[in-house]
Amino acid sequence: MNTQDYIEVEDKYGAHNYHPLPVVLSKGEGVYVWDVEGKKYFDFLSAYSAVNQGHCHPRIIKALTDQSETLTLTSRAFYNDVLGEYEKYVTDTFGFDKVLPMNTGAEAVETALKLCRKWAYEVKGIPENQATIIVCDGNFHGRTTTIVSFSNDPDATKNFGPYTPGFVKIPYNDTNALEEALKLPNIAGFLVEPIQGEAGVYTPNDDFMRNAKSLCAEQNVLFIADEVQTGIARTGSLLAVCGDCKCQSTCERQEDTYARPDILILGKALSGGVYPVSAVLANNNIMNVIKPGQHGSTFGGNPVAAKVAIAALEVVKDENLIQNARKLGKLFRHGMQKIIDNNDLVVSVRGKGLLNAIIINDSPDSSTAWDLCVAMKENGLLAKPTHGNIIRFAPPLVMNESQINECLEIIEKTITAFKK
Ligand SMILES: Cc1ncc(COP(=O)(O)O)c(C=O)c1O
Repeated sequence: MNTQDYIEVEDKYGAHNYHPLPVVLSKGEGVYVWDVEGKKYFDFLSAYSAVNQGHCHPRIIKALTDQSETLTLTSRAFYNDVLGEYEKYVTDTFGFDKVLPMNTGAEAVETALKLCRKWAYEVKGIPENQATIIVCDGNFHGRTTTIVSFSNDPDATKNFGPYTPGFVKIPYNDTNALEEALKLPNIAGFLVEPIQGEAGVYTPNDDFMRNAKSLCAEQNVLFIADEVQTGIARTGSLLAVCGDCKCQSTCERQEDTYARPDILILGKALSGGVYPVSAVLANNNIMNVIKPGQHGSTFGGNPVAAKVAIAALEVVKDENLIQNARKLGKLFRHGMQKIIDNNDLVVSVRGKGLLNAIIINDSPDSSTAWDLCVAMKENGLLAKPTHGNIIRFAPPLVMNESQINECLEIIEKTITAFKK
């Protein structure tokens, strides 16, 4: 079968809920992927930041295969001999009392919303069914019915109603709007992405997260950070809420930059992209409101997920991926800016660490960004537009300096030769 054959089979038998770039991948290693014709590419998307540790990282794959041969699933009806080890490791790593393990990012966001509501009724004392959670315009937190209820992307919402009530929206990166919204009655939480990845890598002002945190604290409102895409070294710190940290080895949660969430949501890179693993972390005063039978998932916290997640976090630490993302991110934006200065096809570059985006000089409904991604594919680099005229660049964090320079050359060559 060739590329076209594979695409036709997917097209015929699969729901059309995605619009992939026309490339069929069959192998991945580190920062590279190969298509079925044997062509090699730089992966500049990393499965939307799930493959931070690089494709098929040997240490994570070993954890996966070793545990798969021993015990894969017990459900939570019984204890297993791995989950506790993982729970201790992940809570130590991120500095919380407890974790609630789930599988996908959307499930973890749902978990955080349920946790926040239950805390609001049972600890804060909000009257039943009145709890309200503040969210931001342009948010992306997943695809469940409740989550799309507070999206403002028409593709995500249209004809999926009736919608779940209990959410108010404010503009992103607007401290005054947050301050006003916090005065509304029965506010339980503020759910926010520290950088809006899916919306097009919108990076808020440096002080937005810390101000948001302290405003929430003043009103006894839970500050909930969705770090599904931004977390685990992607932005040059362990978490994006760490801010401009200078940590040289592991995360030191530096006092002058860290905006500590009350509830932290993780997914994607928590497994290095080999397996769906997500998590919600909080301290006992919040997490203990959940009692047996009130929330869970058959696969959440299974032994394979537990071992894979430990290995994925160890790789981030042992291979200094935080520091690498910080250093290469600066190089990338600097190199990209030089390309932009000599070309009017791209308006600007923005981002943090190795989560970046370029804005194409065309309208959001033009095909220019898509066409440019197809042209980059031909030149050996895979990226995907988000929201029309924005292209997100998020390579695996195991990239090195010469590889990022090679990628900049591919991007420059493609942009220079590109005709609209
Ligand atoms: C910030 C954020 N939250 C939640 C999700 C949903 O994760 P999943 O696709 O694993 O459900 C995503 C996915 O891109 C995301 O970027």
